[in-house]
Amino acid sequence: MDGVEIIPNREECLRLMGEYGMLENIISHSLKVAKVALFLSVELNKKGQKIDLGLVEAASLLHDLTKTQCLKSKEDHARTGCQLLKKMGYERVGEIVARHIWLGEESNPSCVCEEEIVNYADKRVMHDRVVSLKDRFRDLKERYGKQGRTEDYMDHLQDETFGIENKIFLILQSTPDDLPLP
Ligand SMILES: [Fe+2]
Repeated sequence: MDGVEIIPNREECLRLMGEYGMLENIISHSLKVAKVALFLSVELNKKGQKIDLGLVEAASLLHDLTKTQCLKSKEDHARTGCQLLKKMGYERVGEIVARHIWLGEESNPSCVCEEEIVNYADKRVMHDRVVSLKDRFRDLKERYGKQGRTEDYMDHLQDETFGIENKIFLILQSTPDDLPLP
């Protein structure tokens, strides 16, 4: 199977989401993130990008797979989600999940990767609604502030996310407001 990427299909993702006891609201959030991520990927591919749609869909659906448990254990769900998925053999999906909160690496300015799409789509969906980055970060700053995250941490994350947004919409030659709402 060398060089062949194993990606769970939608049905398998939905099964896993049930099996791991994800909270209903996190499931609804993930379904919407997948919708936004796929929309962006299709549009970006029309502009010559080579985004793997199956990979984007799986990683979007599974990006918060371990979040429900982590709410109690206080573990980092990007890390535990990645570990779990890699253990299942879903190496690439795991890599994308690992970077869904922080991208953390300089990106290629002319090429959008699956990591960036899932990271960005997650930031545009508040609960199960499409919102602007500005609104989403206002909400995140409130919630994470209560968990002791510093303002500096959130500002960095916001800068990183706006960087992805600029790149995506420069390639799409459209604006973030053009994302279809709910
Ligand atoms: Fe998450």
